[in-house]
Amino acid sequence: MFHPDGPSLRELTEQALSGTDAGYDLLAAKFDVTPFRTPDAILERAAEITRAGGTVRRGLDLCCGTGAGLRWFRPLCTERALGLDRSRGMLEEAARRLADAPGAAPITLMQGDALETPFRDGQLGLVTCFGAFGHILETDEPRFVREIYRILEPGGRFVFVTSERPPVTSPGLWIAKGFNAVMRVRNALLKPEFIMYYLTFMLPGARWLCEAVGFDVEVKSGVFDKPFHRAKLVIATKPAGAKR
Ligand SMILES: C[S@@+](CC[C@H](N)C(=O)[O-])C[C@H]1O[C@@H](n2cnc3c(N)ncnc32)[C@H](O)[C@@H]1O
Repeated sequence: MFHPDGPSLRELTEQALSGTDAGYDLLAAKFDVTPFRTPDAILERAAEITRAGGTVRRGLDLCCGTGAGLRWFRPLCTERALGLDRSRGMLEEAARRLADAPGAAPITLMQGDALETPFRDGQLGLVTCFGAFGHILETDEPRFVREIYRILEPGGRFVFVTSERPPVTSPGLWIAKGFNAVMRVRNALLKPEFIMYYLTFMLPGARWLCEAVGFDVEVKSGVFDKPFHRAKLVIATKPAGAKR
């Protein structure tokens, strides 16, 4: 539908009718030629700015999918680069695609839930998450942010890309709201649910959620080139003096 090698409309419909995990398992082999994969131009710039704040021993890309973020963030990790995702199919694809990824830190890919990760308190220097906030229900966002804060070491950073909520006059806002309404009906009628909603974890709400758990938050504007110029890079840092 988006690319000759990408999924057809029938395949995308099949994916949407499956639950979130089965849907991604089905899409995995063709995911990188869909617009759902975070573009390299965004990841490259995000990694470049994050690197200016120093390398880390262990970094984790949450909801890593086919490894788009890990490819750019692995060189920032000196000891281990980790990826966590719920979809087995996406992780298998990530393993294949990351075989030639730059960097020397061993890569570990794990199946798991971003809301309940297997990591110990304060185990990681960096957590990233790209293109996946629509899969976290708004009611789960406080728990999601608390979990990231818990697994980061003092001084550790949570790095992500989001944007400002569109104004009410924006046609995009109403298209997204329409999509969300259809998804709510789909999820009321069909199980397992396909959790995918637009307009979530945007600014300023995402900033408030991070600050509420104790992060110091920096929002960087004007760091991405067109057509991504409205996107903002957020670096939420667990204070150096925080309890591990
Ligand atoms: C749109 S893809 C983004 C993948 C990649 N981060 C990127 O930017 O290209 C979303 C990914 O989130 C994963 N996912 C959804 N909900 C999740 C959860 N609760 N915990 C872990 N992974 C999840 C899906 O399996 C999928 O691989």
